Amino acid sequence: MTNFIANTPLKTTKRVFIHIVNKSIVPLLSFFVRYLIPRECFYNIFYPWPRPHELSHDAHNIHSTGIHYGLFLNSPTLSLLQDLNSQLIRVDNEINLIIYQICSSSPPRGNLHREITSLFEKSTLLGIAHSQELQEIVSSFFGFSPTIRTLEVWLTTYVEGSTLEGTNYFHRDGDDFRLLKCFIPLTEITDMNGPFEYLLNSVWQFSPNEPFRDLSQHDLIKNDRLFFEYRAFTFTAQPGCFLLANTKGLHRARPILSGSRIMFSISFTSPTPYERVLL
Ligand SMILES: [Fe+2]
Repeated sequence: MTNFIANTPLKTTKRVFIHIVNKSIVPLLSFFVRYLIPRECFYNIFYPWPRPHELSHDAHNIHSTGIHYGLFLNSPTLSLLQDLNSQLIRVDNEINLIIYQICSSSPPRGNLHREITSLFEKSTLLGIAHSQELQEIVSSFFGFSPTIRTLEVWLTTYVEGSTLEGTNYFHRDGDDFRLLKCFIPLTEITDMNGPFEYLLNSVWQFSPNEPFRDLSQHDLIKNDRLFFEYRAFTFTAQPGCFLLANTKGLHRARPILSGSRIMFSISFTSPTPYERVLL
């Protein structure tokens, strides 16, 4: 009883102190971290880039070249992909109608894109984004669990007489300073229907002598010679595989010469990307 009486004022003081910390100091610190310290600086202090020897084998590939090409092999992911393929077959008529509408648009614009994410079940797309294969590689590369900023399924089709769009030129993305994009083909990607292309070792941060290091994400390189002069990777592929790319490196969608393609893309970032999380 004596102890209880003796401790009461102390406990009250402690509660008041915790209240003050919670109500004023924590918001103040959050404000300081969020707005006064550049978020890149914050992450570099609290989540520094893993050293090369700390990276998994696949994450090391991304660190050294900018990309990693892989196959989905785990049975839970394979069944999700099968599910996605069934959904694709179910919406075949809708997709053909969209292609018809694109082709009859006048005047034709670019290698025409349409986002068709809403035709698919979000839980399936999210399940693939959370698959062990992708999460392990991205977490190892970032040094922390990634945030999924976007889940998008894009239909791209050729239209005669169309002009090129910005993404058809080599450029850098600026969604976030920790950024990996995953490309999963839902239909076959060939040389003809606009494969994704990536210039290896073009992330200036990891390749300081990279000749285009001064180009920001606002610059487009309209010079095709680049493709021939530097080691370029062309992502021609069948469904069932994936490409993880650090799109802060130079990349583009090669202009479509014929046909169409459907690609599922996932954007992995830090929890506070420069462009807001759209999920
Ligand atoms: Fe891009």
